[in-house]
Amino acid sequence: MKKVIPLILIFLFVAACSSFDNNQKVSENKSAEIEVKIKRLLNQMTLEEKAAQMLNLGLPSILNGAYWDLRDSAVFNAERFRKYMIEYGAGSIHNTPGFTPNKEDWYHIIKTIQDSVRTKSRLGIPVLYGIDNIHGANYVNGSTLFPHQIAIAATWNPERSKQSAEITSYESRAASLPWNFNPNADVATNPLWGRIAESFGEDPYLISQMTNAYIQGSQGNGLQDSLSTAVCIKHFIGYGAGKNGKDRANALIPDNSLRQYFLPPFQEAVEHGAMSVMISSNAVNGIPCHINKYYITDILKGEMGFKGVVISDFSDIDYLVEAHQSAKDKREATKMAVNAGLDIIMNPYGIDIVDIIVELVEDGEIPMDRINDAVSRVLRLKFYLNLFEVPYTNPTSYRQFASEEFEETNYQIASEAITLLKNTNDILPLLSDKKVLVTGYAANSMNVLNGAWSRTFLGQDTAYNDPTKWSILKAIEKQIGSKNLEFVQGTDYLEDMNSDAAVKKAKYVDYVIVCVGEIPATEKPSDINELDLPSIQQELVKKLAKIGKPIILVMVQGRPRIIREIEPLASAILMAYLPGDEGGRAVSDVLFGKVNPSGKLPYTYPKYTGNFLPYYHKKADIRDINWGYDGFYTQFEFGFGLSYTHFEYSNLSLSADSINENSELHISVDVKNTGSYEGKEVVQLYLKDKVATVSPDSKKLVRFSKINLKIGETKTVKFSLQSNDLKSIGINNNWIIEEGDFELQIGGNPQNLLKRRLYYQKKNNQ
Ligand code: BGC
Repeated sequence: MKKVIPLILIFLFVAACSSFDNNQKVSENKSAEIEVKIKRLLNQMTLEEKAAQMLNLGLPSILNGAYWDLRDSAVFNAERFRKYMIEYGAGSIHNTPGFTPNKEDWYHIIKTIQDSVRTKSRLGIPVLYGIDNIHGANYVNGSTLFPHQIAIAATWNPERSKQSAEITSYESRAASLPWNFNPNADVATNPLWGRIAESFGEDPYLISQMTNAYIQGSQGNGLQDSLSTAVCIKHFIGYGAGKNGKDRANALIPDNSLRQYFLPPFQEAVEHGAMSVMISSNAVNGIPCHINKYYITDILKGEMGFKGVVISDFSDIDYLVEAHQSAKDKREATKMAVNAGLDIIMNPYGIDIVDIIVELVEDGEIPMDRINDAVSRVLRLKFYLNLFEVPYTNPTSYRQFASEEFEETNYQIASEAITLLKNTNDILPLLSDKKVLVTGYAANSMNVLNGAWSRTFLGQDTAYNDPTKWSILKAIEKQIGSKNLEFVQGTDYLEDMNSDAAVKKAKYVDYVIVCVGEIPATEKPSDINELDLPSIQQELVKKLAKIGKPIILVMVQGRPRIIREIEPLASAILMAYLPGDEGGRAVSDVLFGKVNPSGKLPYTYPKYTGNFLPYYHKKADIRDINWGYDGFYTQFEFGFGLSYTHFEYSNLSLSADSINENSELHISVDVKNTGSYEGKEVVQLYLKDKVATVSPDSKKLVRFSKINLKIGETKTVKFSLQSNDLKSIGINNNWIIEEGDFELQIGGNPQNLLKRRLYYQKKNNQ
């Protein structure tokens, strides 16, 4: 029978969905058709079936054995499978089976689920499978393992974020995994936080640019495309600002800060077509995010107009009772969370939540409208992903999986992330014919380079490591040969491992490369009590320094661990972050000059454990600097990073010395490569409001551009600004600009910026 869609319906849906659909590359007709299908399904569904669409189960709950068992194959438990998937009709699943399947294994797992659900459940609604693709499709064995997000941010090149997302998406789809619990748009303001490695750092603008590019890479061809994955932006909100720096700790965020720093990356992500958002496990101002109706319904779904799915984090309904103590039992917690606006509940272990939702609706404690809204959002995502037509994809169609081309892109990204923080007397690049001692915890470990979320949750299992990938040691050996190379690990993460032997060997070499680092970990296991680099690793550097050979410090870590005491002992310092499978090669190629480093810090690197602030702090945080008081001691500043060449800035020109609400300001500056290497430079543009009622920030990043310059080459870099770029949150918690002076700052390194006065004039004064 021909489908007839009432015109009035088409009009209503088109009006409601158009920009949303544009991002998804869904035509107006298609979108209207989807809405009709959603309505039709809703009319057919029982309350139980609706509640089941709101459930996200963990895969192990339908496999044989206990949830956290380590398995080597995925055998479905017939009884639980029938009950959860067929009888109840669970709407979505996440997690691995307890081992890391290759793409073919994933295909069989997902095909079994989808085929059974399609043929045996009453309505045949496909299941939505979500997975944490944190740095590549890391839960698909053999996939490309990229640098972690913090390293991608350090490239200051959004194209790199996009490329990593495209490949991740491809390799995820090769395993029939269409929904990605990434990227992370958290604004990381506390360097103690272990998951800073999974974030794009501290700056809302840099985070937004990187997040938007990631969304483009994942969803740019539209979700119907079998290479696309739907992103899930997380964690809404304030996860990176936990007061004590611990995972899931309470954050104190006044409304003006929330709006100024934390919401913009999410707002942008929504505007760029993000289809799902994950709620943060923490509390903000003592209110668990999962029950914060103001944040979820009023701000995210209301002010931001988010039309996608809101999912809880892992077991977070239970944590409302157990961790937050905000609800007396699971029933009360579910009621609070669903009424606050949650659409899907990640309830890994079973289906109890479905019965609870049904009971709450029947008792009149959750309105039916809320359920219909939640289920519509879930079904919409399934339709947009075309899961009703194509519930899984054949792995053999994805021939580029882990290809050399993907590997090369991965290498380029890692190379572009590495940040040179010190290079006394241009000691780097090193000469390949000298004798070198390589030492340190991170020197010969693929797991340390890859960090957490590498085949396993904590990334500490060596069984999955790809033998063709090179640790830093291996890559250096390939570069200089074994004859000139000495290796002694020297320390573990926290313990000495024959550091005396390293010291002895140091006497007979020309350079000592000390690779320090962090243990692979995330979430609670990544909590630390002090930011200092573990003392045993610092001791190794101190002992080696006594020998008097030049020390090159390579840091393999997500967080900026305090190195105040050992920094003066090192002639050169490289920040490698967690650079992934190609990180060893990239580090070695930077050390020996095949790559000219171009990364810039995406966060402030503090000097003292007790003194950290983001670069956009207030003057009052520092205060009486002229009287010798200071509150902002950095080891290295946000945006800092050296090159083997030198860049000179000149001819800064502004199209006007004032701007108003309707005008556009054009800025141009010449950048010349005056050194003797070709190199990439990140041109950074900041604004500083000189006077504002709400004390202005020291400065704020408003534009950046990464350019490549040959030796002697000059390029003119142009930016344009609108008055919106000058806005900040005013005393009434809305975006305003007060008339007066601003300062525009431009350059490649924060200590050395060209400055110009800029006046903001309200239109009606002219
Ligand atoms: C993490 C999320 C992740 C989820 C699903 C949680 O513990 O906080 O970032 O997406 O688990 O694995």
